[in-house]
Amino acid sequence: MSDMAAKLLETGDSCTSPADSGKPARRVRVPAYLKKIYWWAYVHPNAVRVFEREWLVNLILFGNYSALRDAALAEIGEQAPGLTLQVACVYGDLTPKLCNQIAEGSELHVVDVLPIQLQNLQRKLATDSGVSLIQRDSSALGFADGSYDRALLFFLLHEQPENVRRRTLSEVCRVVKPGGKIVIVDYHRPARWNLLRVPLMALLRWLEPYAGDLFGNALECYLPRDIQFSSVTKKTYFGGLYQKLVLTR
Ligand SMILES: C[S@@+](CC[C@H](N)C(=O)[O-])C[C@H]1O[C@@H](n2cnc3c(N)ncnc32)[C@H](O)[C@@H]1O
Repeated sequence: MSDMAAKLLETGDSCTSPADSGKPARRVRVPAYLKKIYWWAYVHPNAVRVFEREWLVNLILFGNYSALRDAALAEIGEQAPGLTLQVACVYGDLTPKLCNQIAEGSELHVVDVLPIQLQNLQRKLATDSGVSLIQRDSSALGFADGSYDRALLFFLLHEQPENVRRRTLSEVCRVVKPGGKIVIVDYHRPARWNLLRVPLMALLRWLEPYAGDLFGNALECYLPRDIQFSSVTKKTYFGGLYQKLVLTR
């Protein structure tokens, strides 16, 4: 990676990124669903203090954090060339590890709509990581078409209302160049025999009301209809509760 400090780019109107479309960035607003439903997990100043613990993230994922993180990282590859985009920050060490897989002279950009989450990520990265941290809404990225070689979305889509999830996927498909890869790790409808199926689905429907969409529908349902992918592969984990969907544009 290029030898720059992790840089938290300015938020709001003056926000720029090496992949910007050249159009002036719109003011980034915190979406209503985050403030209403996920205030306790991401927005409140105490959220980071409580949740930035790997054992807790692992507990929430029933001990599957490392396996899912490593499955995502394996898709990115050991020496990822060009520009890589991570859409939304994640508690735990996914991004520091991803950063180590970026080839010399190549770049990793991470977007999130919440400055508190970008600041938290900045603290987890080495000062010479060279990662660009950019405040953006995933549903209106504002980057130029085809500006990224690959993108990673780790447990973002189940948190978004359907219209936002569709726009996020449409934006990610737009900014990843033809031939580029989109790696998504998220919830999936568990197998009938999975003992967690009923209690977990009830709990998630209460705490994370949009997660039910991924139990009812295949993630592919939310992809833009006007894009043909050259390959779509899916693997499920932990009795079907989690999935990795890999799309090649
Ligand atoms: C990737 S998701 C869930 C990650 C996972 N639960 C974990 O362990 O952290 C959480 C992040 O998504 C971000 N986020 C949610 N909606 C967003 C949006 N529309 N645009 C950009 N970031 C968003 C939140 O601010 C938060 O930092």
